[in-house]
Amino acid sequence: MEIMTITATPLVDALTEYARQGVIRFHMPGHRGGRACPDPLRDWLGEAMRLDATGVLGLDDLHQPGGVLQIAQELAARCFGADHTFFLVNGTSAGVHAMILATCGPGDKIVVARNLHKSALAGLILSGAHPVYVRPELDEEFGVSMGVEAATIAAALEAHPGVRAVLVVNPTYYGVTSDLEAIAAVTHSHDIPLLVDEAHGPHFRFHPALPTPALEAGADAAAQGIHKILSGLTQASFLHLKGPRVDATRMGDVLRVLQSTSASYLLMASLDAARAQMVREGGHLWDRALELAALLREGVAAIPGLRTFGRERAGTPGFHDLDPTKVTVQVTGVGLTGPEAEHILRYHHGIQAEMSDLYNLLFIVGYGNTREEVLHLLDALATVAREAGRKASGHRGPAGTLSQENRVRGQVPAAPLPAPMPLPPIPPLEVLPREAFFRPARSVPLEQSRGRISAETVTCYPPGIPVLGPGEVVTPEVLEYLLTIRSTGLRISGPADPELRRLRVL
Ligand SMILES: Cc1ncc(COP(=O)(O)O)c(C=O)c1O
Repeated sequence: MEIMTITATPLVDALTEYARQGVIRFHMPGHRGGRACPDPLRDWLGEAMRLDATGVLGLDDLHQPGGVLQIAQELAARCFGADHTFFLVNGTSAGVHAMILATCGPGDKIVVARNLHKSALAGLILSGAHPVYVRPELDEEFGVSMGVEAATIAAALEAHPGVRAVLVVNPTYYGVTSDLEAIAAVTHSHDIPLLVDEAHGPHFRFHPALPTPALEAGADAAAQGIHKILSGLTQASFLHLKGPRVDATRMGDVLRVLQSTSASYLLMASLDAARAQMVREGGHLWDRALELAALLREGVAAIPGLRTFGRERAGTPGFHDLDPTKVTVQVTGVGLTGPEAEHILRYHHGIQAEMSDLYNLLFIVGYGNTREEVLHLLDALATVAREAGRKASGHRGPAGTLSQENRVRGQVPAAPLPAPMPLPPIPPLEVLPREAFFRPARSVPLEQSRGRISAETVTCYPPGIPVLGPGEVVTPEVLEYLLTIRSTGLRISGPADPELRRLRVL
C-alpha cells in the first residue's frame, strides 16, 4: 500500500486567498462573506463566513471542474489509490445513489446485500433497478448484522443471469467487514462491477492495523463518509472509482443530476483539508485512536455484566475482519436495554454514544478523543453497570412485553429482554421499489396486511436488516414476525406508523 505524500491543499489555499484579497462581492451567497449574517450565525461561524464563497473566478466549478477543484479531486484520487475521485456535498447518500444510477437503468438487476442503508433503497427508486437481495449473516449473541459471505453473492449471481452490479455495505455500522477480495473475485468473474458503501471506512487506507480498504480489495467504486470518520464537515464525502468497469464520464453525468449546483465550498475545502491531514499525520493519528479503542475494549471486558467483541471472532460467518475503533458494548447483562444505557450515559454522565440498539451501545473511538475521555467513559460504564445490576437483581419480573418509552425513561424495573429472533425469509418482490414508490398506497391494520404488497420498508433494531421492503409481499412468516416484534416493543424504523399498528400497502 503506497500512500502519496502530497500534502498540498489547492482548494483550501484558493479559498483562503479569495477571502484575503477583500474582493468586493456582488455575488452569492447573500450574507456577503458574513457581513450581513444574522445572529447567532456570526458568532458561531465567524471567519468561516468569509470563506463561504461560491464558484467565482479562480474557484472552479464542481459540475465542470478544470481548475483548483480538479486538482483537489486528483490529489484525493491519488491519495486513496483511485483512478477518479468525486467530491460529494450531499453526504455519502449521494455516492450510493450515484453508484447505482451509473451502473443500472430501469429494470436492470443489481445484487444488494439486505443490510443496505436507506440511501441504497433511494438509489433503487431513482434508477428503477431490480434488486436481487442477499442476506448478510447474523450474530445471535449480539443480535446484529454481520457482513455477507462471498458464496451468498456467488449463488445470487448464478441464479440471476444478467445482473449488472453488486452492492455491499462494508464495513457494517458495528465495524465488521466481509471478505471483499473474495466478493470482488466472484463479482468480476461475471464481468460486472462491485460497488461498496464504505461510509464507515474512509480511514482504512491510513493504518496497516485497520481492515483492507475497498479499492485495494478490488472494488470498482466506493463511497466514503469523510465527515463520519475523518475530519470533513458534516455531509462531506468522497466517491472513488477504480478500473474500467464503472465509466467515469457517466458518473460525472449522474452526479450533475444528483448534486447541488451551489456546492458548498466550506464542505469541499474540508475534504481537501481532511485528505491532507491524513497524508501528513494519518498513521500517527490512527495509532492513537487504535490505542484508545484497545483501552476501551479491555476496560469494558473487565466490567461485570458488560460484553464486547473483538477480532477473536474473525472467521465466523460474515466476520472477515473488524475495525477495532468501533466498540460495541452489550448492556443486557446488567438488566438494561441499549436505549436505557444510552439515556443514562447522556443525562447522568454527559457522554453521548454513537447509537444504541435494543441490546448494545456503539462507541466510535476517533483520533479526536483523549485518554481522559476513554477513562471517564469506563468509569461511567462501571457505575451504570453496578447500579443497574443492583436494581435488576431486586426487581426482575417474569418474561413479558416491554414498553420502550417507559424503559427509556428508566422508570420501569428491568424485564427479561426478547432474545434475537431468526428473520423470516426475504419476501417475494412483486413490483419494483420504484413502482411501489409511485403507486397509490393506503394504510391498513397490520393484521389485515397478509398477502398485500407493502408500500414501505420495515426494519427492526436489532438486527437493522429490513424485514419488508417496498414492492414486497407480506407473507404469513413476515406478518407473524412483525406481530411478535410489535408486541416486544423493539424499535421499528421505516413505516409511517412507527408503532406498526398500521402498514401502508399498494
Ligand atoms: C452504511 C451507510 N451508508 C450510507 C450512509 C449515508 O451517509 P450520509 O448520512 O453521509 O448521507 C450512512 C449514514 O449513516 C450509512 O450508515
